[in-house]
Amino acid sequence: MKKRILTGITTTGTPHIGNYIGAIRPAIEYAKGSNESFFFLADYHSIIKNYNSSEISESVENIALAWLSCGLDANKTYFYRQSDVPEILELSWILNCITSKGLMNRAHAYKAAISENDKDIDKGITMGLFSYPILMAADILMFDSTHVPVGPDQIQHLEMTRDIAARFNHLYESLFTLPEPIIQNEDKVVPGLDGRKMSKSYKNIIPLLETENKLKKSIMKIVTNSLEPGEPKDYKNCTVFDLYQNFADEADISAFKSSYQDGISWGEAKEVLFAAINKELKPVREKYLELIEDKNFINDLLSDGAKKARILAKEKISKIRNVIGIKNIS
Ligand code: TRP
Repeated sequence: MKKRILTGITTTGTPHIGNYIGAIRPAIEYAKGSNESFFFLADYHSIIKNYNSSEISESVENIALAWLSCGLDANKTYFYRQSDVPEILELSWILNCITSKGLMNRAHAYKAAISENDKDIDKGITMGLFSYPILMAADILMFDSTHVPVGPDQIQHLEMTRDIAARFNHLYESLFTLPEPIIQNEDKVVPGLDGRKMSKSYKNIIPLLETENKLKKSIMKIVTNSLEPGEPKDYKNCTVFDLYQNFADEADISAFKSSYQDGISWGEAKEVLFAAINKELKPVREKYLELIEDKNFINDLLSDGAKKARILAKEKISKIRNVIGIKNIS
């Protein structure tokens, strides 16, 4: 059976090398095969914790540009903004009505948020945060996705999606496909400048769409130990080496291991890393500079993507309305 792969990207922040390795590059690979793929900008998810409107709209632009610059072929995939497909929100309400509050009480993200409160456990918790997994379920179920690539932090949301789908199928009619997660390997976490997971919140990112100069400066800031040039170095648990592995083939990786043995200096090692990353990102940067000149092109492309997606969404939502009794008087 043909797989239908779907994943959403929350539109907060500017894409970095970690997003590129963990999400963008593998998604573009999936899209090349014979499977159908759906990649969308989860802009309604992004307003849950961020009330800065210019940050949200800039992020939508940067993320769309990043995916397209990295080679996503919008003709071969469904590439759209969540907010351009209003049927998703309609489905989200319908799913809200069949999802038990108890299921949402168990969500890790919600539990983490309330664990910081003491007397008033609901302090600072919005209904958006609480029902976040239901909107995500609507994203997925709307298009009968069979496979959903996600990070390990999203596995529970996928389980909830399956629960919600099964409940709907049981209450009404089997309209929904239960999706499988494609889980990004936990030990493939991409380290940032300080060795912790690369993340905007740790301020340790290497940017994806910056100039060659800024990329280099950023790489030179990677924290290493104080071993001198000439001293053998351990490639294990080394941020420079871990990043390099994502941009090199087997032969180059083993050559780099030998250089560590031979006591390559940290400065040189970072030069090698920079050259490898830059080689891969050069065409991305060129494409980005070309795309950024034509905002209408991107807007049109996203609106075409939404048109394509809405054909499926409208058909699905009309079946759903029908089975729940929201239909013409007959
Ligand atoms: N919650 C996901 C994240 O933060 C983003 C997302 C929204 C998503 N809707 C989705 C991922 C549907 C996969 C499928 O990473």
